[in-house]
Order: sequence, then structure tokens, then C-alpha cells
Amino acid sequence: MRKWIVAGNWKMNNTLAESIALAKAIKEGSSGLQGGAIVLAPPFTALAAVGETIKGSNVSLCAQNIYCEDKGAFTGEISPVMLKDVGCTYVIIGHSERRKYFHEGDNDVNLKVKKAISAGLTPIMCVGETEEERVKGITQDVISRQINQGLKDVEKIECIVIAYEPVWAIGTGKVATTAQAQEVHAFIRGILKDKFGSNAANNVCILYGGSVTKDNIGDLISMDDIDGALVGGASLKTDGFLGIIKKISGKK
Ligand code: PGA
Repeated sequence: MRKWIVAGNWKMNNTLAESIALAKAIKEGSSGLQGGAIVLAPPFTALAAVGETIKGSNVSLCAQNIYCEDKGAFTGEISPVMLKDVGCTYVIIGHSERRKYFHEGDNDVNLKVKKAISAGLTPIMCVGETEEERVKGITQDVISRQINQGLKDVEKIECIVIAYEPVWAIGTGKVATTAQAQEVHAFIRGILKDKFGSNAANNVCILYGGSVTKDNIGDLISMDDIDGALVGGASLKTDGFLGIIKKISGKK
């Protein structure tokens, strides 16, 4: 049995006070839930404070990005040592917004994934096709390239989470159908089976992301290879995010 994971990616939102209030509400509203992980990814400025707020609860702390060196002259970057220092156990890597606006390629993603693993952080590695790529019929080529290159020279996948986020579904309100999502999730698991064997692949959590709400997650989460969600917009409101957590924890 794979555990479920619900991760809230707050992106570049929330002041310190807003972050603490939201984290406290999520912690209180989800206390006692078992069998999975609730993960919050606040902006860097709020990591330490949110870390303090959720201490001792079943909510885990996640960074939205990482750099692949421990320290040094890399102005503006944050190292795995610093993330661990404030209590992070997860880190999002290769989000489509990083790929698009900050020109991160598969090689950067690979370096960051390897660095995160060696530091003892769980990478949530994001993959997904654009609308143009889907229309052209090359979704599987894109996903297979992102997975193979992102995990190049990675030996063990026990400590890795994959998030399938079709770029056309992120922040657009256009959620993938259950069939579209399940097809890609099964495809991803198939690649992992070929590379790492069935046992290891069957234990990897594959999250769906892209316009997830408490109203559409119920059907998605009933699919075999969908193990949770990476949530953007709907993770910024207590009711919306708790609603998603309850649907997922109730079905898996
Ligand atoms: P969204 O974002 O839920 O607002 O579509 C998801 C994400 O970017 O992780």
C-alpha cells in the first residue's frame, strides 16, 4: 500500500503572518489523520516560521526550490543544508514555472534531485507537457524525457515523489480528466518499473497537480496510480485545502 500525499504549493504568496495563520489552521484541521503525509511549501521567507508552527504535528515542511551546492558564492540561492536547518523534509524540484520563467532544464532538475537525495530531503520532481505538446501527440515523449533525464544516475527511488502536472492545467481551471491523468500516471510508473524494478516503482507516490479543488479531487484520487495531489491555488484557503486532504485521506 502506498501512502497518500497532499502537498500545498503556496508559490509566491503569503506574508509571514498569513503563512503562520494558514499553517496553524491546516495543522489543527488535519490533526489525527493517518496513513499519509500533509506537506506545506511556503515561500522561503516563511519556512522557518511555518516550521515552528507545525512542529510536532503530522504536517511536513517543504521548500519550493533548492540549489545544488551546500554553501558559497551563489547570490540569491538556498542550499539543502539551510533547508534542513529550518526543518524541511521535502523540496519541490522542476516545477513548470521554474522551467518556464527561470529556464531550468532537465539537467538542472537532475542535479537538484541528486543533491536533495544526498542531503536526505525528499524531492517532489514535477513533470508535465504543455498544451501544444499534447495537441501534437508527444505527451509521452516529453514525460519520458523529463523522467529519464531528471532521474539520470539516481540509484534508488524509495525517497522520491513524482508530480504529474500538465502545464495546461496549472492555474487555468482546466483539470485533466481522470482518464487522461491515470494514463500518464500509469505511463510514468511503467518507466520507473523498467528503470528500477516493479517493487520500487510500486512504492513511489505519483501526485496529480493542475487546478485541483475539493470538488474535482474525488474522482481523480479513485484512480489506481494517482496517490495524492500537488495543489497550488486551492492550497491558499483553509477550507479548500482541508477539503482536499479529507477527500484524499478518506479514499486512499
Ligand atoms: P494550481 O497549481 O493548483 O493552482 O493549478 C498547481 C501547481 O502549480 O502545483
